[in-house]
Amino acid sequence: MPNPQFLVLFGSQTGTAQDVSERLGREARRRRLGCRVQALDSYPVVNLINEPLVIFVCATTGQGDPPDNMKNFWRFIFRKNLPTTALCQMEFAVLGLGDSSYTKFNFVAKKLHRRLLQLGGSALLPVCLGDDQHELGPDAAVDPWLRDLWDRVLSLLPPPPDLAEIPPGVPLPSKFTLLFLQEAPRMGSEGQRVAHPGSQEPPSESKPFLAPMISNQRVTGPSHFQDVRLIEFDISGSGISFAAGDVVLIQPSNSAAHVQQFCQVLGLDPDQLFTLQPREPGEPSLGHPDSLPSPVPWAPTPRAPPQPMETSAGVQFCPRLQPRCTAAIPPDYLLDLIPAIRPRAFSIASSMLAHPSRLQILVAVVQFQTRLKEPRRGLCSSWLASLDPGQGPVRVPLWVRPGSLAFPETPDTPVIMVGPGTGVAPFRAAIQERVAQGQTRNFLFFGCRWRDQDFYWEAEWQELEMRDCLTLVPAFSREQEQKVYVQHRLRELGSLVWELLDRQGAYFYLAGNAKSMPADVSEALMSIFQEDGGLCSPDAAAYLARLQRTQRFQTETWA
Ligand code: 2AM
Repeated sequence: MPNPQFLVLFGSQTGTAQDVSERLGREARRRRLGCRVQALDSYPVVNLINEPLVIFVCATTGQGDPPDNMKNFWRFIFRKNLPTTALCQMEFAVLGLGDSSYTKFNFVAKKLHRRLLQLGGSALLPVCLGDDQHELGPDAAVDPWLRDLWDRVLSLLPPPPDLAEIPPGVPLPSKFTLLFLQEAPRMGSEGQRVAHPGSQEPPSESKPFLAPMISNQRVTGPSHFQDVRLIEFDISGSGISFAAGDVVLIQPSNSAAHVQQFCQVLGLDPDQLFTLQPREPGEPSLGHPDSLPSPVPWAPTPRAPPQPMETSAGVQFCPRLQPRCTAAIPPDYLLDLIPAIRPRAFSIASSMLAHPSRLQILVAVVQFQTRLKEPRRGLCSSWLASLDPGQGPVRVPLWVRPGSLAFPETPDTPVIMVGPGTGVAPFRAAIQERVAQGQTRNFLFFGCRWRDQDFYWEAEWQELEMRDCLTLVPAFSREQEQKVYVQHRLRELGSLVWELLDRQGAYFYLAGNAKSMPADVSEALMSIFQEDGGLCSPDAAAYLARLQRTQRFQTETWA
């Protein structure tokens, strides 16, 4: 008798929902259950009516939007003509991943849960609300929910009695076979995955554009604690077009040093090409390029954290990846466990109207200390920072997608933008675009530590102020004893902010590092509505909610 089967469908933007889904798949294999894991848009949605048990894992992006790889499913499932009994055979559960600093927290998961009930499905559990802002990350909600889920799933689908659960610590059979290849496929063969200049289709995740890097310049002063880069790419002939507020996705690689270390530990030849083939026919090779040959340097970094179920197995094999203990780990097992490198999203910091054929980003190079001796580095930002177009041609795989910020097109609508630190990036694109279109009512609140260390684009802002195209309000947090932040400057200029919002229909934007900044800025607005607008506290809250509802208050924040 085949093992009982269930289905995990995910909608994932940055890869977390996909990681959680793959983890569900591995936990199912450990429990001897059959489990298919698929992106929502690659599943034939009409087959849902025959599915007895489906777990949906869905992120919420932007202002409450579904991820790109579930957009078709989303349109389908909300069709008005679906019968209310369509899913009456189906037991389901919805795991949501979101960020509570956004107003529409886990909107997609909550809405999907309600819709599945409406279509006759039976919920195994209440919807799970994973939160990026929780100090323990989404796992704080996801872990206990998964424990309940397994109780329910195992009571519905008891595994075959003759097959015991594979205990933690014992490696699962790998889903892949690692095949070493003698030679690379010919260029131009079907497996080739890059978009070419002049191609009809705009570049995408499956066909990125290899953009020449033109410059990579440190924009923070030499004594500043953080290395921030302004990086420029040439996108001529790529078919890429973007507007202010859009984001660019970059597919990074491991550093050469990490690849060397990884290959050395596993006794692999770094120049050897390989392909990963799914062991079971029909099994999608998630997180890995589908049977596409890659040179070993594609190999995931040894820093990538294994998921909890397997942590013990990983640790048992390779305490701190010491060569003498790890030689015995089969590489295919390890590659099954370590997630493939995911693309990273950056707000685009330039406008095509000001810099045709160019795309700029502002990247803070991520580095932080943990209990380990070696500092941890952000894979993508460190990789980008290490590339030097002065030393020879550098090409970076990228593509663009719409971001969560959209700017008004009406000519006289004022725009208030609050962007401390690298949060200013999308506003530079917006200001360039608006100025090029003759829209001069731009108000920018920018925060940084020091005027001479991390005041990005100071000369550019000054020039725009001279031309009456910009009002810049800087907040230097460390130039005086008391910290001065953007929200303090907003409050100082409360009557202007109120006048712009209430009388002149201004749009308000906020971008930057999440933590407490978005809440602090919202609180400053609430005080302005009360003190300068004369509203009572509930009316001020309703006013803010109305701005959000009508898209006149938009945020783009990142962790
Ligand atoms: P700080 O590092 O001196 O505390 C860009 O990072 C700027 O944002 C810095 O000047 C930083 O100040 C400031 N910043 C830090 N926390 C903030 C918060 N909660 N609200 C607004 N700005 C903040």
